[in-house]
Amino acid sequence: MVRLDWAALLLTATAVARAVTANTPSIVPGAYIVEYEEDQDSAEFVSSLDGEASLRRDLRFKLFKGASIQFENVKKAEEVAAKVAEMPQVKRVFPVRRYPVPHHTVHSTGDNVEAMLSKRQDSGNDTFTPHLMTQVNKFRDAGITGKGIKIAVIDTGIDYLHPALGGCFGSGCLVSYGTDLVGDDFNGSNKPTPDADPIDNCNGHGTHVAGIIAAQSNNPYGIIGAAQGVTLGAYRVFGCEGDVGNDILIAAYNMAYEAGSDIITASIGGPSGWSEDPWAAVVSRIVENGVPCVVSAGNDGATGIFYASTAANGKKVTAIASVDNIITPALLSNGSFSVDGNSSAAFGYTTGEPGEWNNVSLPLWAVDFNTTDPADGCDPYPASTPDLSGNIVLIRRGTCTFVQKVTNALAKGAKYVIFYNNVPGTATVTARVDGIEGVAMVTAEQGETWIRALEAGSKVVVSLGSPTSSSKFLANFNNTATPGFLSDYTSWGPTFEVEVKPQFSSPGGMILSTYPRLLGSYGVLSGTSMACPLAAAVYALLINVRGTKDPKTLENLLSATARPNLFRRNGASLPFLAPVPQQGAGLIQAWDAAHATTLLSESSLSFNDTDHFNPVQRFDISNTGTKAVTYSLSHVGAATAYTFANESTITPITFPGELTADFATLSFEPSGEFTLQPGQRKIVKVTAAPPKGLNAKRLPVYSGYVAINGSDGSALSLPYLGVAGSMHSATVLDRRGTLLSRSRDSMNTPVPANVTFVLPPAGHANDTSYRNRTELPKLVATLAMGSRLVRVDVVPVSNCTRAAKKATVVFGTKTLGQPEGMPSLYNARGTFEYDWDGQLDDGTYAPAGLYKLAVKALRIFGDETQGSEYDAAETVPFRIRYLEAPAKVKRQDEKC
Ligand SMILES: *[C@@H]1O[C@H](CO)[C@@H](O)[C@H](O)[C@H]1NC(C)=O
Ligand SMILES: *[C@@H]1O[C@H](CO)[C@@H](O)[C@H](O)[C@H]1NC(C)=O
Ligand SMILES: *[C@@H]1O[C@H](CO)[C@@H](O)[C@H](O)[C@H]1NC(C)=O
Ligand SMILES: *[C@@H]1O[C@H](CO)[C@@H](O)[C@H](O)[C@H]1NC(C)=O
Ligand SMILES: *[C@@H]1O[C@H](CO)[C@@H](O)[C@H](O)[C@H]1NC(C)=O
Ligand SMILES: *[C@@H]1O[C@H](CO)[C@@H](O)[C@H](O)[C@H]1NC(C)=O
Ligand SMILES: *[C@@H]1O[C@H](CO)[C@@H](O)[C@H](O)[C@H]1NC(C)=O
Ligand SMILES: *[C@@H]1O[C@H](CO)[C@@H](O)[C@H](O)[C@H]1NC(C)=O
Ligand SMILES: *[C@@H]1O[C@H](CO)[C@@H](O)[C@H](O)[C@H]1NC(C)=O
Repeated sequence: MVRLDWAALLLTATAVARAVTANTPSIVPGAYIVEYEEDQDSAEFVSSLDGEASLRRDLRFKLFKGASIQFENVKKAEEVAAKVAEMPQVKRVFPVRRYPVPHHTVHSTGDNVEAMLSKRQDSGNDTFTPHLMTQVNKFRDAGITGKGIKIAVIDTGIDYLHPALGGCFGSGCLVSYGTDLVGDDFNGSNKPTPDADPIDNCNGHGTHVAGIIAAQSNNPYGIIGAAQGVTLGAYRVFGCEGDVGNDILIAAYNMAYEAGSDIITASIGGPSGWSEDPWAAVVSRIVENGVPCVVSAGNDGATGIFYASTAANGKKVTAIASVDNIITPALLSNGSFSVDGNSSAAFGYTTGEPGEWNNVSLPLWAVDFNTTDPADGCDPYPASTPDLSGNIVLIRRGTCTFVQKVTNALAKGAKYVIFYNNVPGTATVTARVDGIEGVAMVTAEQGETWIRALEAGSKVVVSLGSPTSSSKFLANFNNTATPGFLSDYTSWGPTFEVEVKPQFSSPGGMILSTYPRLLGSYGVLSGTSMACPLAAAVYALLINVRGTKDPKTLENLLSATARPNLFRRNGASLPFLAPVPQQGAGLIQAWDAAHATTLLSESSLSFNDTDHFNPVQRFDISNTGTKAVTYSLSHVGAATAYTFANESTITPITFPGELTADFATLSFEPSGEFTLQPGQRKIVKVTAAPPKGLNAKRLPVYSGYVAINGSDGSALSLPYLGVAGSMHSATVLDRRGTLLSRSRDSMNTPVPANVTFVLPPAGHANDTSYRNRTELPKLVATLAMGSRLVRVDVVPVSNCTRAAKKATVVFGTKTLGQPEGMPSLYNARGTFEYDWDGQLDDGTYAPAGLYKLAVKALRIFGDETQGSEYDAAETVPFRIRYLEAPAKVKRQDEKC
């Protein structure tokens, strides 16, 4: 039997040398995924490692044969891992990385009461707005519900006991299969405790996702799953909190595949931009074997272009972007108010944090009566302000933080604050400030009603019950600011190798769905996490209608029929289409996809960058209908997005970036109209010329659509993109953001030259008894753009120490080797941090002495065997010595 030593996985708060990543997925120390050349007994494999490693997880599946292993001695892990990679039965070895539940927004949740779960009449047609936006309603109205299709949901589990999610688990139930790979207490760094029960009682993300796909109509709010006839598989990969390792994700995907899932959906990811990332590669393999896989594109839109998320960025993996719902639903608590002592009226609110509204009934007070002031309550209140301890202060949302606004109110004695919104609906406000007992939010309309009454000199007394006793109701507001437009948070592609990402979009902003019974039963959430499951359901509907589940055919259909939208900012549309790197093909139009008789052979085209410009591309148009169709081709440009703000910046501009109305020129062959008889197919040649007059140094990304209009009324479009500059010329390493700091300095302040770090004795970096007396050098490296390979060299500064004499020269840099755990592969852009305990990649420790760390980041499309292909930076020199060097590690004299 193989001993499972999960304790070794504990990432305690001690100074274990590890790559701590600020915004790139972090690595689990000493943990590796090994892929075998062929089927191999994992227990036997691990025992061949002579007790160096234990088995984290057996990963022997039809499409992936391997294991994840944990080195007992994290210190020697890299050394042994290198040996493992050379073993004949091993195909490749890569580190285990961790991914979080995406940062979705929970806007409001329902009541924690069973009474809410009343049956609603399930008659009439589907008017659920995400369905109206995507034509999904037409399927249910026509009796097509995804019957017979199995969709696996890889997420936080599903609260299958929720009546709207079937109320049971197993054969015959809506949630008919799946498992819990991790258990409640798993947080990504401790030992998983798998069991057979994938219930989601504590997180909610997966329950919301499941309802979007398949919620039944027995709910009080009119929520309708997009494919009510499917069965779901629940693969739980998150505990109540924390992350998941990609070894568990790889296992979950393979289990879902082997359970016969027809579609696999996952609203999980982390910044990457590399389709070769191991998790993405596994998902690609499953798609190649005939199972469509949809993955949320990510919620990092704020970070700007070139920020694709894995596994969505995998080849053949369908990445789903998010648009905002046309309505803003909100689950509001019931409050009451009276004006000048008249009879009370009801209003709705969302309780915030703190939420100590225990039957508070107080008169409102407002700092001013201007309901359009964007910065209401941001300045300290005037000296003439009365004592507000007996009032609820009413403040408009906007400009400064909620905390600043409540702090100003608190300064005049206030304990309770109600915000009124500056956008439709309400939101959950968090403003924990000592002395403040309750915050809440009401709609803009409610706020204005009260302000007008106050302005007229009326007394408005507002009563809020205790959060547990006041019942909630659903209020739908029209979304006038962003209806059907791309959500600001949706992550932008393309990948660093100019692959088109995302594929298409679906409603993900402001979505009402099921939520665990223990967390309120229903909730309104936003994120690409909410967009992705609707796309998964659409695949099920398409499989019902078209009878094929070929991933490529279905993706091509959805892409060709999707509807591109304009770019929208601050409630106003710009006069051009949003770039393909933001919206892909556009918003899914499921009915059109299900019934299209003209098929395209591709879902998108990439013209690559100027170094690899591939201006001539071909795709097929097939007429599978019963009548001859005459087609004409044309071109519609989308906004060109500059990557850099000017020639001297190296980090991409953050959202919304700089968009211009410069379009490529496309020519087609055949150039005129052509007719295809039923069953005929034609190859179309597209030749692109990038837009003229762009500044190539700023790496403009141009994009648009080939429009294919048929005489039968069909109107298809094929998205394309290209980079009018050289990806290879982009600086990947931000030298100014690459520096040396101290492991305990969370601000990453650079240290001056020649600082001495006293390290724990070699091999004792995790020993707390040394903590007070030691501190590790922390390398902070910032990647302006992604880099497939980042190496770090330990450079002895003196030329005459024994260490220096052992040093070799790599790419012109004198080096003792790389710190343990380096190099780092497939890096997203962003900052990563690495605490070095003195260990090298060969398992030995660098002797005491003066060193620099030299960072080399491979440029995009660079040749890793050439030193000139790397961007380089060095830290200042620093000295290390070990606290109490154990006998084995002899102290080295650093002097000549
Ligand atoms: C931490 O150190 C102790 C002894 O110093 C060792 O037994 C243990 O394996 C170490 N754990 C890790 C994760 O290195
Ligand atoms: C419901 O949808 C069906 C199919 O689209 C349509 O025939 C019918 O008129 C619709 N009913 C109502 C009440 O809108
Ligand atoms: C995970 O949980 C363990 C206890 O089970 C705890 O020691 C550790 O700090 C947690 N890790 C994180 C990242 O929260
Ligand atoms: C309200 O505030 C806005 C922004 O400061 C200002 O433009 C507007 O004139 C104000 N309205 C009134 C009635 O004072
Ligand atoms: C919301 O929009 C719908 C459809 O445009 C319209 O009929 C309705 O009156 C609007 N409601 C409000 C409160 O503006
Ligand atoms: C762009 O060209 C490079 C070099 O040939 C290639 O590796 C990459 O895959 C190309 N990208 C696309 C999307 O074809
Ligand atoms: C750091 O120490 C080295 C070697 O002792 C010396 O040559 C160098 O001038 C020092 N640098 C600074 C900035 O003090
Ligand atoms: C570390 O220092 C703190 C405060 O200086 C002290 O309270 C603690 O006991 C010390 N711990 C050890 C292990 O020496
Ligand atoms: C060490 O030798 C290299 C050349 O091998 C030289 O460039 C460097 O200046 C020398 N450093 C010192 C401190 O002498």
